[in-house]
Parts: sequence; structure tokens; C-alpha cells
Amino acid sequence: MGTMTIKVAINGYGTIGKRVADAVDAQDDMEIVGVTKTRPAFGCDLAVRKGYPIYCTFDDESRIKAFADAGYTCHGGLSDLLKVADIVVDCSPGKVGASNKATYVEAGVKWIFQGGEKHEMTGNSYTSSANHVQNLNVQGTRVVSCNTTGLSRTLVPLYEHCGELSVECTMIRRAADPGDSSKGPINAIKPVLKVPSHHGPDVMTVKPEIKINSMAVAVPTTIMHVHVITATLPEGHGLTTESILEMWASHPRLIIMNGAETGITTTAEVMEFSRDIGRKWGDLHEIFVWEDGVKLEGNTLYYFQAIHQESDVIPENVDAIRALMGVEEDWRVSVNKTDSAISKYNNL
Ligand SMILES: NC(=O)c1ccc[n+]([C@@H]2O[C@H](COP(=O)([O-])OP(=O)(O)OC[C@H]3O[C@@H](n4cnc5c(N)ncnc54)[C@H](OP(=O)(O)O)[C@@H]3O)[C@@H](O)[C@H]2O)c1
Repeated sequence: MGTMTIKVAINGYGTIGKRVADAVDAQDDMEIVGVTKTRPAFGCDLAVRKGYPIYCTFDDESRIKAFADAGYTCHGGLSDLLKVADIVVDCSPGKVGASNKATYVEAGVKWIFQGGEKHEMTGNSYTSSANHVQNLNVQGTRVVSCNTTGLSRTLVPLYEHCGELSVECTMIRRAADPGDSSKGPINAIKPVLKVPSHHGPDVMTVKPEIKINSMAVAVPTTIMHVHVITATLPEGHGLTTESILEMWASHPRLIIMNGAETGITTTAEVMEFSRDIGRKWGDLHEIFVWEDGVKLEGNTLYYFQAIHQESDVIPENVDAIRALMGVEEDWRVSVNKTDSAISKYNNL
């Protein structure tokens, strides 16, 4: 590959797609060659402002022409976009991506799906710290969901220290994203009646050695998920509450803060903190762990963590691009490169 710039297409310019586009655009080894919209509506103006070429999600002429009729320059359909791309990041709605896979195979591009798709569809899944190496040079992968990414951030370093880990957790899930007006509940707590929920077992698609189960409830909030985690460590783990906190503090994309000292005791303050430090869209790519909510009692570790659902997977997509294109073998080097480029578009 040498110093070639990786040409990245974004198929689906919504909540995740627009964020991945900006994170890719910030890197010096990749560029956005185009983003797709299904129709000339909300989102096209943002792409124009960012200077990303707009393509139509579909190839038929009448749908492409509708963009020009609405005053947007549309460079063609998805097939035209794939001709100028090395890799496509599919950010279409959950379960829709599966129908796009044949198109990517036919176009001969590499592909990355998101957590709304099934592991079986790609045969590979990805988080930066768990299995970057296993994804080197593969044709396609899936960046796991926001919840699975969050679990992986704290559990993988623990597993790597202990060599064995058994976990039970409860996902307290946001009902909808802030920009989503069609989901709920708005005044109820909704248990996920598929037990265990898919979130925990999904961690095993990136780190099969971790034994993990989860249950989930959706609550009327839009801003974050909270995980309530109980992990059983093996005998002779040699860890203390303090050493676990130190381990996490030295791990990328984790923020540890003391709730009592900072006054950041709820997800509302975590998000306010993120806005205060000038993060674009108020995003928080890091997983937030409350220091005073972590306790190791014998072999049992208890902790809470908060996940910014719209953004923790964004830098992981950038690292996944490097893995698939085979340009960086060391996940830590990729993570540092990704995060330092992204930090330039965050203000403070
Ligand atoms: N939102 C989260 O919190 C979150 C977190 C982690 C992972 N994910 C996963 O990321 C993926 C995208 O979710 P999202 O929240 O970004 O969804 P979203 O906000 O609904 O955005 C999806 C975008 O894809 C476009 N689209 C519709 N049909 C398409 C098709 N056939 N091909 C390509 N694009 C199509 C949509 O249409 P328009 O062009 O009409 O706008 C929209 O812009 C899902 O797999 C989801 O599970 C989401």
C-alpha cells in the first residue's frame, strides 16, 4: 500500500455515517470519496457543507435525477461510488446492510458493516483492542454495536490480565437517539424479553474466551446507555480495586472519573462534560467509568459504565479500515493515530 491514500465510501449518511465520514476525513491516510443518500432530503446539505460528493443509494436514473431536481449535484448511484472506492463503510439501518453485501462483493471493494448486522453475515467482527490482528487484510468485517464495543473496552484488558473471565451484566439502554422521533418508550421501562440479550454474547464474536451473558431494559432517555457489570475473576488474579482502575486508566478510549469529587453522577453530567470540552456533536468516544462505582470483593468485580451510543464505535471504524487494508498491524498505533487526528477537530 505504501503511502497511498485509502479511498473510503460511506453508504448510509445517517447518525453513524455522518460521524464516520468526519473521523475518516480527519485522517491523513484516508479520504472520503462519497456518501450516499436515499433521496434529496435532510442530510444532503450537511454533505454539501463538508464537501463530500453525494451519490444516490440506488442506481436507477429517476432516483438519481431527483437530486438534481432538488438542486444537489449527485455523482451517480451506489455502483458509481463503489468504482472509485477501495472500501465501503455500510452505515445503513440495522438489518438493511445484509442486502448490500452482494453489491460490494460484485464491485470488488472491501466492506465494513455496523452492529445492526449479524456476525454470521460477515464471519468477522471487530473492536480495536480485542481482535485487530484477526481482521488484517480480510475482505469484510462488522464493527460490533455500541454496547458490545463498550463491554469490550473494559473487559478485554481484564481478561488479558486474568486469562479467564466470567461476566453477568445488565444493559440499561437509551430508548432512541436524540435525532430519532419514531421510537420509544417515552414513559415506561421495557425489558428485552429475549433472555439472555444479544449484547453480552456478542462480545464473544470479538473475544470468544470471555464467558458473558446479559439482560437488557430500555428506558426513556436518549443520551446514553449504562451497563451494570459483575465479573468473576479467577483465583490468584492478583488485582485490587486500585490496580484495576490503573489498568483501565492506561487503556485507550476509557475515561475514569470520581462521581462524588467531580459532581458527574449521572449520564446527564457526562454528556454536559463532553459538550464542555468541545466535542463535536457533544460526542464521547470514550467509555465513561465511575471510579467510586468500582469495587472488587474477593473474586467478584462490580462496576458501572456509561456508553455514548452514537459515537463510541466511530474511531473503531477508522481502525477497522486500517486493519482491512492491511496498513497498520499494531492496534495501539492505529488507535493513537486515529485519536490524535480526531482530537484536532475537537476544540478543547
Ligand atoms: N445510532 C446508534 O446509536 C448506533 C450505535 C452503534 C451502531 N449502530 C448501527 O449503525 C447502523 C446505522 O445506524 P444509524 O443509527 O446511523 O441509522 P440511521 O440514523 O437511521 O441512518 C441510516 C442511514 O442509512 C440510509 N439508508 C436507508 N436505506 C438504505 C440502504 N438500503 N442502503 C444504504 N443506506 C440506506 C438512511 O436513509 P436516508 O439517506 O434517507 O437518510 C440513513 O441516512 C445500524 O447497523 C445500527 O445498528 C447505531
